[in-house]
Amino acid sequence: MHVRRCAHLMFEPRESVQFDLDSIAAGGDGLRTELTLLALVPHRREETAVSAKEAALLAGIPSTTWTDYAALAAHHGAAVVQDLVARGLLICDAPEHAADRARDDRLRDANWHTLSAAQHYFGCWNGVRSGDENQRAGYLTLQDLIAKLGEPPPPVQTHAAAGSRLPLPSPQTTAFDALLQRRTTCRNFDADAVLTQHELATMLHRVFGAQGALRVTGGGDTTVIKRNSPSGGGLHPTGAYVIAQRVDALPCGLYHYEPLAHALEPLRALPPADAADLALRSVAAQAYFAAAPVLVVFAVRFPRNFWKYRNHAKAYRVTTLDVGHLSQTLYLSATDLGLGAFVTAAINEVEIEQAFGLDPLVESALAVSGFGRRAARRETPEFDPRGLVWRDDGSRMA
Ligand SMILES: Cc1cc2nc3c(=O)[nH]c(=O)nc-3n(C[C@H](O)[C@H](O)[C@H](O)COP(=O)(O)O)c2cc1C
Repeated sequence: MHVRRCAHLMFEPRESVQFDLDSIAAGGDGLRTELTLLALVPHRREETAVSAKEAALLAGIPSTTWTDYAALAAHHGAAVVQDLVARGLLICDAPEHAADRARDDRLRDANWHTLSAAQHYFGCWNGVRSGDENQRAGYLTLQDLIAKLGEPPPPVQTHAAAGSRLPLPSPQTTAFDALLQRRTTCRNFDADAVLTQHELATMLHRVFGAQGALRVTGGGDTTVIKRNSPSGGGLHPTGAYVIAQRVDALPCGLYHYEPLAHALEPLRALPPADAADLALRSVAAQAYFAAAPVLVVFAVRFPRNFWKYRNHAKAYRVTTLDVGHLSQTLYLSATDLGLGAFVTAAINEVEIEQAFGLDPLVESALAVSGFGRRAARRETPEFDPRGLVWRDDGSRMA
C-alpha cells in the first residue's frame, strides 16, 4: 500500500477574534484571539485544522511519487497517517480510498494552478441566501453602505490638474451607442410573460453559438469554434446550462445548449414550482433575478483551458474574463431584442452543479445570467440615471 500528498494543498493560518468574559474579568479588552492552522483541500472543497507537526509531515511527502505506507506509519505512527488519509490530505492506493483518489486524479489531470484551485473551490457557495431582505438589511442603498463603511474610493482616478487636461473631440455616435446606453441590469422581470422560442434561440446563438468552426488536422479531431465574444487561447471553455421556466412550447426544465448543432439538449423536465425553486436557490435568493423566464448558467470546463495553460497562474483569471465577455454579449443581445438581462456571481455553485449533474472537478459554474421581458412597473431599483428604460413615476418606457 502506498500514499502520496493530494495534488493541490494550501495552508492558511486563520485568525478569529472571540468575545471573552474572562478577559473582561481580568481587566482586559474582552477579546480573545484564536489562531488555527487550516489545510485547504480543493478536491474535497473542505478545510480541516492541522497541527504544525501534521503540516510538516505533509510538506515532506511528495505528491507526484508514491511513498510506502508501512514505512511512513512506522516512522510517524499508523494513527497519524490513517487520519491524514481519512481527511483526504494523503491519497492512498488501497481500494477503500478509491473515491478520494479519483477526485484527486480529476483535479490533478485538469492542470490547475494550486492558488487558483483553492480560490475557486473555496469561493463556491451552497445554501447561501444573500438576496434575502434580512441578509441585505443595511446594504440596500448606497447611503446605507456609506453610513456603515464610510466613503468609497473616488469613482475616477485623475493624474493631472483640470487645466492641463487635453480635451477630446465629442465622440461620434451611432445606433450602437443607443444600444449600449439602454443596457441596464434588469431587476424587474414580468413574472407572467413567456419568451418565444425565436427569442431564446436568437439569444443562445448570439452569445454561445458557433458562428464558425475550423477543423484542425493534427491526427485527431480538433475543432475550434468562433463565437461573438473573445476567449483566451480561442478555447471557449464556457458552456451554457439553461433553466427554462417560461418559453413558448418548451417544457419547463433543464437543458444544455449545443453550440455547433444550435440545439437544446434536454436534461431534466421540472414542474414549474421546482424550476422556480431552483432558479431562486441558484441566484442565492435574489428573487428579482429568479423571476426571469430563462436563466443561463455559465459553466467553465477548466481542463479545456488548462490543456493549453497548464498549471498557469493566469489561466483561471482568463476563464473568469471569458465569462465576463459572454455576459456583456448577452446583455447587449437582450437589449437589442427589447429584453432585460442580468448577470450575477452571487450563486450557489454546489446546488447548480447538483441540479445539472455537473462534476465540479471538471466543469463548474462561474456566473448566472437571465433574460426576459421587463415588467410594466419598476418595483426594485435599476441603475437608469438617464431615464432610458424607466420613467420617473416607475412606469416602463415603451
Ligand atoms: C460580475 C457581476 C456581478 C453582479 N452581481 C450582481 C448581484 O449579485 N446582484 C445584483 O443585483 N446585481 C449584480 N450585478 C449588476 C450590477 O449591480 C450592475 O451592473 C451595476 O449596478 C451597474 O448597473 P448597470 O448594469 O445597470 O449599468 C453584477 C454585475 C456584474 C458585472
